[in-house]
Amino acid sequence: MNKNLAILAAAAVAAAVYFVYSSAGRNDATAQRTILEPGAPLAEVQLPPDLSEAAKIGKRAFDAVCADCHGDNAAGRHGMAPPLVHKIYEPSHHGDAAFLLAARNGVRAHHWDFGSMPAQQGLTDGDVKGITQYVRELQRANGIN
Ligand code: HEC
Repeated sequence: MNKNLAILAAAAVAAAVYFVYSSAGRNDATAQRTILEPGAPLAEVQLPPDLSEAAKIGKRAFDAVCADCHGDNAAGRHGMAPPLVHKIYEPSHHGDAAFLLAARNGVRAHHWDFGSMPAQQGLTDGDVKGITQYVRELQRANGIN
């Protein structure tokens, strides 16, 4: 009998603790949800005043193939894919070859928890170089060199 009471008391304490924590958590989650809808941009990207000819061509391919996941202006999309206008994709950490490999072979999730990137079909190396040029010009306009 005493043992049952002790279990009951422990359960009541656990429930009270859970209630306090879960309501705190719920407030956080609500705040987050109002800030980030699924697919919302993850970075505030400043646009360069103009793009080179190569980058303009790259932008067209990016918008057609990559923007579904990486977002307009490579700003990322909540729940889908990271911003490429981000310090970890600066040229010294992810050189231009990383873009060619990503498009050709896909990317196993390692930096984020969006899941893996599938290989992208129907792009020539020239297309991907144009895309890379576009992303580099966006990065530079945001102080990522
Ligand atoms: C289906 C969604 C999706 C599409 C479409 C997509 N990506 Fe990705 N990409 C991802 C995700 C998710 C990651 C992050 C993987 C990680 O590091 O966790 C990623 C990562 C990358 C990386 C980083 C590679 C590395 O070595 O870490 C590059 C570069 C990249 N994408 C370029 C592109 C380009 C260029 C295109 C268009 C040709 C494209 N992606 C289309 C989802 C996508």
